[in-house]
Amino acid sequence: MKVKRSEEYEALEEVFDKPTLMLIYRMLNRGILSELGGVISAGKESRVYYGKVDGREVAVKIYLTGSAEFRKGMIPYIVGDYRFSHIKRGMRNLVSVWARKEFVNLREFMRAKVAVPEPLHVEGNVLVMRFIGEGGVRAPLLSEIDLSNPAETYEILIGFVRLMVKNAGLVHGDLSEYNVMMHEGTPYVIDVSQSLPISHPLAIELLTRDIGNINRFFNRLGVKVIDRNIFVEELIGSG
Ligand SMILES: Nc1ncnc2c1ncn2[C@@H]1O[C@H](COP(=O)(O)OP(=O)(O)OP(=O)(O)O)[C@@H](O)[C@H]1O
Ligand SMILES: [Mg+2]
Repeated sequence: MKVKRSEEYEALEEVFDKPTLMLIYRMLNRGILSELGGVISAGKESRVYYGKVDGREVAVKIYLTGSAEFRKGMIPYIVGDYRFSHIKRGMRNLVSVWARKEFVNLREFMRAKVAVPEPLHVEGNVLVMRFIGEGGVRAPLLSEIDLSNPAETYEILIGFVRLMVKNAGLVHGDLSEYNVMMHEGTPYVIDVSQSLPISHPLAIELLTRDIGNINRFFNRLGVKVIDRNIFVEELIGSG
């Protein structure tokens, strides 16, 4: 097993509990991960690390198991989702369901032809996916760059929202300029653990908010945006 630098190794031990560390070490030993590098992002609910699997760059998203607030927030998204509603309570289990939900949602979005990081492996609270970026440098978020052709990027994203609903039957639920990465001119949608079926009681509200966020961002860039209510109607209507 290779862990790049001992400081990073130590940082890992400070942040994660014993079962999470055991899981990561097991993944390294089994070759599911060949290398674990530095932190790409340290959020409240998860940390994303750079890694490698057989020379291929990956992102390793590790959900923190310690936050009661996080657990409480997850429940409505899990309970109303028919694919996951059979779960048992208990902190670790719930976080594992959350990671699994992100994995499955990424897979469904890929099938629906939405650009997302390809999910490679999920185990417990650890998700391994394709790294969006190159040479260890992550791609910028939509919020971090000046777009050369905002109208085109808007069209692509609106198309992705349509594919999510029409082909995957899912609503992203947290779509904004902070959950889209721009890589080689293509927007990649990330952060999909909360995504849920269109049949979920929260789905229409979340869909409307997602479109509103995208519209607000691109409207500021001078792009002519579509009416979000008409678009929602188009998506959920029988057409
Ligand atoms: N596949 C990936 N490749 C490269 N970087 C990634 C990838 N997935 C996530 N990241 C980076 O990690 C950050 C956090 O990921 P994500 O949005 O999925 O988690 P989060 O739980 O929402 O964290 P936060 O609360 O910080 O937004 C992203 O903003 C991005 O910079
Ligand atoms: Mg995010």
